[in-house]
Amino acid sequence: MTRSDKEKFMSAALDEAKKGWGETHPQPMIGAVLVESGKVVASAHIDRSGSRCPEAKLFESLGRSPAKTASLFVTMEPGPSSNRLESGVRAIVESGVKHVFIGAHDPVVEHEGKGSDALKEAGVQVERRIRIEDCEDLNLIFNHWINHKTPILAAKSATTLDGKIACRTGESKWITGEAARQNVMLWRRLFPAIGVGAGTLIEDDPRLTSRLDGEEEWCGVRFVIDGLLRTAMERFLPAIYTDDFRDNTIVVTTDAAGTGYIRRLETEGVNVWVLPAANMKVPFPEFRKKCYDVGINGIYFEGGSKLTSELLHMRELDYHFNYRAPILLGDDKAKPVYRGMRIEKLSHALRLDRVRNETYGDDQLMRGFVSYPPRLDVDETVFSNE
Ligand SMILES: NC(=O)c1ccc[n+]([C@@H]2O[C@H](COP(=O)([O-])OP(=O)(O)OC[C@H]3O[C@@H](n4cnc5c(N)ncnc54)[C@H](OP(=O)(O)O)[C@@H]3O)[C@@H](O)[C@H]2O)c1
Repeated sequence: MTRSDKEKFMSAALDEAKKGWGETHPQPMIGAVLVESGKVVASAHIDRSGSRCPEAKLFESLGRSPAKTASLFVTMEPGPSSNRLESGVRAIVESGVKHVFIGAHDPVVEHEGKGSDALKEAGVQVERRIRIEDCEDLNLIFNHWINHKTPILAAKSATTLDGKIACRTGESKWITGEAARQNVMLWRRLFPAIGVGAGTLIEDDPRLTSRLDGEEEWCGVRFVIDGLLRTAMERFLPAIYTDDFRDNTIVVTTDAAGTGYIRRLETEGVNVWVLPAANMKVPFPEFRKKCYDVGINGIYFEGGSKLTSELLHMRELDYHFNYRAPILLGDDKAKPVYRGMRIEKLSHALRLDRVRNETYGDDQLMRGFVSYPPRLDVDETVFSNE
C-alpha cells in the first residue's frame, strides 16, 4: 500500500471518529475502518460515553471474517488510557486481521506502544504514526485530561487584523464572517462547557448554545465568571439565567458576592459555585479542581478581553483559538483582546505550540497550545478591581 493510500484510509477513519463529535466525553473520539481490495468495507466509532471499543463494533458489523489481506486503520492505538488495551487488542487478534495501521499513540507516554506490542506478539503487523498530528489533534480535550488530570482551559477570540474585539463604541457584531462563526458553533458542540466573563454577558447577552446548520440547538454547561455577581444585579436577568437551558448555567463567583444575589439566581434555577478568594477574583486553580471533581474535561471560554487576558496573566490558559478577520480599525480606543502584559523582549512573548492554521471564508483561524515564557511581567493596574 502506498503512503498516500494509507493517509487516505486514515482520513476515512478520522471522518468516522468525528461522527462522535461532542458525544463521547469522558472517552476520546476514535474511529476505525477495515479495508479490503482497496475499499472500505466496514467502519465504526465511539458514539457516546461508555460506548464499546470501535474495533469490536467494526468486526461485529462486518458479520463475517475479514479477507486474508484485509487492513485495519484505527485513529488511536488500543491502550490503557482509552480502556481498549485488552478488548481492542483481543477483537483484532480474534478477527484474524494481520495488518493494522495506527494514527495517534496512547496519549500517556508510559502507555505508549503497549497496544502495538501486544498486537505484534500475537503476530499482527503494525505500522504507527499515520496522520499522527491529525489523530492527536482530534482528541486535544481527552489527551489533556488524561495526561494532566485537569480540564483543558481554552479561549476563543475573534479579532480584527490589529487584534481588536470591539470598536471604541463597544460594537462587536460581527467581526468574522458566517463560515468562521459556524466553526465556533462546532467547537461549542465539542467542548462540554462554554465560559464567559461578566462583561460579555452584560453587554452581549449571548445564548451560549451550539446552533449548527441543520441541527437542533444544543446546550452544554455554561459558566459565567463573575466575582461580585454583577450579572445578578441587573433589573432584567441575562437570557442564560432564564431560558429553557438555565439549569445548565453555572455562575462561578467568590465568597465576596452578596448572598441575596446568590439566592436570586438559585430561585431562577441557576447553579452557583462560590469559591473562596482573597481578592474577589475567581481562583482558576480552584475552578479547575471543581470541574475535575464533576467530570468536566474542557471549557471553551469566549472572552471578553478582561477574562482572556486574566487567564493568560495567571498562566491558566492552556489552548487558544484566534480567528482573524481581514478588517482593520487602527483606532487606539478600540478594544484590544489581550491587555496588561509588560513584555520588553520578544523572547519573553507567549507563543502557540502545535499550531494549526485553517481558513473559513475570508477569515483565518490559528489555534494551538499556549506556551508561557519563564518570565511574565504584568501591569497589575489593568487587572485590579477598579
Ligand atoms: N470578538 C470576540 O471574540 C469577543 C468575545 C467575547 C466578548 N467580546 C466583546 O468583549 C467585550 C467584553 O469584554 P470585557 O473585557 O469588558 O468583559 P469580560 O472579560 O467578558 O468580563 C470582564 C468581567 O468579568 C469578571 N471577571 C473576569 N475574570 C474574573 C475573575 N477571574 N474573577 C471574577 N470575575 C472575573 C469581572 O467582573 P467585575 O468587574 O464585576 O469584577 C470583569 O470585569 C464586549 O464588547 C464583547 O462584545 C468579543
